[in-house]
Amino acid sequence: MNNKMWAGRSSKEVDSRVNDFNSSIAFDSRMYKQDIKGSMAHAKMLGSKGIIDAEESEKIITGLEGILADIDSGTLRFDPEAEDIHMFVESELTKRLGDTGKRLHTARSRNDQVALDIRMYLKDEIKEIIPIVKELVEVLCQLAEENLDTIMPGYTHLQRAQPITFAHHMMAYAQMLVRDIGRLEDTYKRMNYMPLGSGALASTTYPIDRKQVCELLGFEDITQNSLDGVSDRDFCIELASAISILMMHLSRFSEEIILWSSWEFKFIELDDAYATGSSIMPQKKNPDVTELIRGKTGRVYGDLNTLLVMMKGTPLAYNKDMQEDKEAIFDAVDTVKLCLTTFIPMLDTMTLYKENMRNAAARGFINATDCADYLVKKGLPFRDAYKITGTLVAYCINNGKVLETLSLEEFKELSDVFEQDVYDAIKLETCVNMRMADGGPAPEAVKKQIAFARNAIKGYC
Ligand code: ARG
Repeated sequence: MNNKMWAGRSSKEVDSRVNDFNSSIAFDSRMYKQDIKGSMAHAKMLGSKGIIDAEESEKIITGLEGILADIDSGTLRFDPEAEDIHMFVESELTKRLGDTGKRLHTARSRNDQVALDIRMYLKDEIKEIIPIVKELVEVLCQLAEENLDTIMPGYTHLQRAQPITFAHHMMAYAQMLVRDIGRLEDTYKRMNYMPLGSGALASTTYPIDRKQVCELLGFEDITQNSLDGVSDRDFCIELASAISILMMHLSRFSEEIILWSSWEFKFIELDDAYATGSSIMPQKKNPDVTELIRGKTGRVYGDLNTLLVMMKGTPLAYNKDMQEDKEAIFDAVDTVKLCLTTFIPMLDTMTLYKENMRNAAARGFINATDCADYLVKKGLPFRDAYKITGTLVAYCINNGKVLETLSLEEFKELSDVFEQDVYDAIKLETCVNMRMADGGPAPEAVKKQIAFARNAIKGYC
């Protein structure tokens, strides 16, 4: 005899391999709080609408409270034999209350139940992730405030391009993270619709009150179509994609930290607490944390891909394929939290080698654009100024010089427009401080970026 909750139709015991294959308790048990709270709201509504007896509704709610407390305290353990968290809680309730427990599932299906649980679970997760990202933005703002004058080379094609400051560089990441927070918040908004009452797919004949459940559980509103209510996983995909973009930002940042902590750059040094050694090479100090973040970014992209591919061929409404959503989205959420919480203190404790940054900026003709601009400001067309400066750069390379060390005579060889004031115009400090357009690296412009970032994240949880 089949002793499953859904037994009746079936005459045989399910093959144990199918049981194991089918079961999701190993990973969906983490939603027990949401599952129980959802059931409490459902039971309350059933009672208030007279669908079940008010007294039984009370009993169910008290029974569920007991189960929640026992799981929390560790006295009740998940049964690995259970099909999923929903079945586990319901059968535990029935064990405790007898027939009353069996009434909980009136006007409900596991299809709308699981749709509710994941939304509730992920809403809680987003509320945890956003403050961590905000913390990272604040660390970046502080690093920027302390380094408004720390000149470093800015790169394109990883070639020294124009001088910027470390503050400017940090604030570029801060802006990315501000957008990430916006995306998470946006995902939250669209996730915030309550699907319970969709039933298996076609709602229910009982006179339920979905709005009441919605209010009890703190959702913005109810979902509008029962087929969509049970089979929508857009919110998982949206969250995985917001997390993927966030991970991409962390990964780019990690790549830079890896470069900057190499002997070739030596712009920074990670604190010993956030670096590792080699088992064979005594001199090594490896930026493992950042490499792992770079690596785990691929893994999160994999989670997003799992979800996208899982959904692309499933007809309406629920299909068991969708049970695969949880491991993917849970992994994405766990991974991003792990990465962020390790990355923040690592960043906060690293040492900056400002001299090395400045020295790197002083070589590589990073002020060549400014030299050309100097000529333009003296009346030359930009293309002529560009060519003259290019010729000067070639001359410097051939003679082991940089623009700053050329004599005025050498400058004048190429254009008699050059005067003594060229030296001031091509000084790194001038190059940075003159770039005061909004968004630029001049200290005043970066201060505005810091204020913008701090203000942008103020409203979020
Ligand atoms: N464990 C299932 C899941 O995660 C719950 C829904 C099961 N529904 C069903 N009709 N078998 O998707």
